[in-house]
Amino acid sequence: MDFLEIIKNRRSVRNFTSQPVDKELIVKLVELATHAPSACNIQGWHFIVVDDEKIKNWLVDEGGSVVIKNAPAGILILYDNRTKNTEYQDHIQSAAAAIENLLLGATYHNLGACWICHLPPKNRVRQIFSIPKHMDPIAYLLLGHKEKISVDMPRKYQVEQMISHNRYNGRVNEKNNQPILWIKKILMKIYYLAPLAIKKGFLNKYIDKKFVKKFKN
Ligand SMILES: Cc1cc2nc3c(=O)[nH]c(=O)nc-3n(C[C@H](O)[C@H](O)[C@H](O)COP(=O)(O)O)c2cc1C
Repeated sequence: MDFLEIIKNRRSVRNFTSQPVDKELIVKLVELATHAPSACNIQGWHFIVVDDEKIKNWLVDEGGSVVIKNAPAGILILYDNRTKNTEYQDHIQSAAAAIENLLLGATYHNLGACWICHLPPKNRVRQIFSIPKHMDPIAYLLLGHKEKISVDMPRKYQVEQMISHNRYNGRVNEKNNQPILWIKKILMKIYYLAPLAIKKGFLNKYIDKKFVKKFKN
């Protein structure tokens, strides 16, 4: 696959075979991730490789997406939160740049991967992984061998619709494609506060049923 094919063929993969991911390959992917740009060249990433079923189950029980259990491996991406540029949250941007490298690297090596930020509240993730205060958990990456060929995800807009020149000339007053967003935000806060037993016994099953099935890949 050439570079452009890698970019265009990358798809979020949520279903995997049980074949484990080669540990050296994971190290190679992380090495690729560290070639990403980072604000002020801080290079403040840390990567926690997860292959322990108990930890994956914890993440799901505590409110993470059920697809976390599908992947034989995962990588929790952390970034140093000591930034002066809180306006643009440059630590999150630096982490995101590395995550994209991980996704493209996985595609190059014919692995399936998916960026996950449907995760338990940050304070629980910190406790589960003993993460110090100066590091923020940013996202989790599913990694594994694909169970099936991914279907294409058509682009929603023509590129011309997404470019303006010198001033914003994009869509305005377009119907919000996330209706009742404010209610969803409140529900999410309540969900995060709910006791583990209620999440495990009822809420997670409901949420998984509602959201996970909508993805084709
Ligand atoms: C910041 C971010 C967070 C995401 N979080 C999740 C998630 O929690 N669960 C999930 O299944 N997919 C998640 N995704 C993957 C998107 O659903 C996916 O990129 C989108 O549906 C487009 O599909 P594609 O990646 O195959 O192009 C996330 C992607 C991004 C960039």
